[in-house]
Amino acid sequence: SRSTLIAVDGPAASGKGTIARALAAHYGLPHMDTGVLYRSVALTLVRFGGDFDNEFEAVRAVAQLGQVDPADPELRSEVVGGVASRISAFPMLRAALFDRQRAFAGQDGGAVLDGRDIGTVIAPEASAKLYVTASPEARAQRRLAELEARGISVHYAEVLADIHARDERDSHRDFAPLARAADADLLDTSDLTVDEAIAAALALVEARL
Ligand code: C5P
Repeated sequence: SRSTLIAVDGPAASGKGTIARALAAHYGLPHMDTGVLYRSVALTLVRFGGDFDNEFEAVRAVAQLGQVDPADPELRSEVVGGVASRISAFPMLRAALFDRQRAFAGQDGGAVLDGRDIGTVIAPEASAKLYVTASPEARAQRRLAELEARGISVHYAEVLADIHARDERDSHRDFAPLARAADADLLDTSDLTVDEAIAAALALVEARL
């Protein structure tokens, strides 16, 4: 088809970002990591000492998005991820971030977007949808390795508890909770290497195009 729109959703550290980047490279499509939007708002609030429980402050921080460097390593910090998870429950914030995600999804030729609600809310018309998951233990192991590679030392139990807390918040919020779309293909990466996960994702997407 003329336009290839691919939605990749899943919980933290499931491998969805790696898979989305690989799919985008394979099909020559632009890629948007929508978590960066929520993380950028969170980082702005953290920097300016904002109130994480104030929906209006979060919406106001959207105007500062242009000031955040998407390559800023602070965006990937556990603190910013935790704040992002909290503020992403605000319906007004989700609404304020909707248009730019829709515009990206509507590009001629298509796009790959990854997040929590791409297949359900942002791009329900996507030609291929993946719901990427892995056991909390596998995801905690990966997050731990990632943090250690960055020279951050934490305990496995701490990382696992954080993964559970994030899953709980992302899955049980009232607006656009993390959920598998009815027409999304499930890909469990718990026992797959990165290369195996990418190959499996490509096979699932190919079958849908
Ligand atoms: O995927 P990532 O860990 O970067 O996302 C950070 C947080 O942003 C998530 O915990 C989730 O709560 C939120 N998010 C969201 N909707 C998206 C992408 C991310 O609510 N489409």
